[in-house]
Amino acid sequence: MSSPDGAPHVVIRSVSKRYGPLTVLDRVDLTVARGELVTLLGPSGCGKTTLLRLVAGLATPEEGAIAIAGRDVTRVPPHRRNVGVVFQSYALFPHLTVAGNVAFGLAVRGRPREEIDRAVARTLSLVRLEHLGSRRVSALSGGQQQRVALARALAVEPEVLLFDEALSALDRNLREDMQVELRRLLREIGATAIFVTHDQDEALTMSDRIAVMNGGRIEQLADPKTLYARPATLFTLGFVGQSTRVRGTVAAAADGVVTVDTPVGRLSAMGHFAAGSPVVVAARPEHLNVVADAAGHDGGDRARNRVDGRVRAVIFQGSRSRIEVEAGGETLLAELPGRGAADLRPGDDARLVWPVAETFVYPDPEARP
Ligand SMILES: Nc1ncnc2c1ncn2[C@@H]1O[C@H](COP(=O)(O)OP(=O)(O)OP(=O)(O)O)[C@@H](O)[C@H]1O
Ligand SMILES: [Mg+2]
Repeated sequence: MSSPDGAPHVVIRSVSKRYGPLTVLDRVDLTVARGELVTLLGPSGCGKTTLLRLVAGLATPEEGAIAIAGRDVTRVPPHRRNVGVVFQSYALFPHLTVAGNVAFGLAVRGRPREEIDRAVARTLSLVRLEHLGSRRVSALSGGQQQRVALARALAVEPEVLLFDEALSALDRNLREDMQVELRRLLREIGATAIFVTHDQDEALTMSDRIAVMNGGRIEQLADPKTLYARPATLFTLGFVGQSTRVRGTVAAAADGVVTVDTPVGRLSAMGHFAAGSPVVVAARPEHLNVVADAAGHDGGDRARNRVDGRVRAVIFQGSRSRIEVEAGGETLLAELPGRGAADLRPGDDARLVWPVAETFVYPDPEARP
């Protein structure tokens, strides 16, 4: 986290939002530091847009409070919050030029002509569209329209920028370029941003921190590396990145390590559970190594898990290969870099070996008490 200075800028405190009987946000707490980019990541309907709308002032919470730069804005109307919003549908004015769209917010605020011209020139150059100011927006590509929407939000110099799936209409290459460009731009101007996406790669690329949302609550708030390496819940594990999982029952526990009986054999994992607890054991596929010749390897090494099985599929993906190994009726997923799987064929015997330190364990949500 390089740019944020740590001072709280947007403070969301115990905010709840209900629509009739439906609780859409349930006591959400979130503090975004000045200059920080926090992403709300979660499945459809989990409340991401609703939370953004509350920060923008487009909706009011039933409970809790929202402060921006130390000022309570819970009931302050949108135009008095100094917040810029970029939605997925760019909602540009098709009859206006690029410059006309960017100038719009300042014009309705009655700012002097010279100030507007300066702001338009500056923001268009920030998004690298200075040469297209007089073009009608209807004659622009999707990516160019996206940048006009961005310039329009930036022109009024909001303290806080909110993005709701703002890049999701772009094709993959343009989208990846825009992620990097937008991140650079936001750092340059020192803006505080809340970014909504349901695309985990986008979240990992752009964010200082990610708030994983589930059913109107924040499941985990962490920087991208921590979120990926140490998912706090099974939901986060499943929503961010790939994983191999096996259910089982805790056989013993000592010193922060549990041993678990599973259909693929006895596994060890980092965690605290009482013997007899139903759990799910999980690991990231890139930690699983595939040893084609099982004999003699790693015998008795207590720091490693070992599963003997049979290769079911080898899927070449360019920079890496995914290997599915069947054992005890379960399918485990390993990922090897580059051509690391060149020798493996479906039907081969294979041993999976991976560190206990990279093995997670969670309560089994489907187990009956
Ligand atoms: N004005 C409204 N009236 C009633 N229910 C609403 C209203 N706005 C949102 N909801 C409901 O609140 C829940 C959360 O909606 P929200 O738009 O915040 O989800 P989201 O996380 O942005 O999802 P998506 O990824 O699909 O955009 C949904 O169940 C939705 O149907
Ligand atoms: Mg939404």
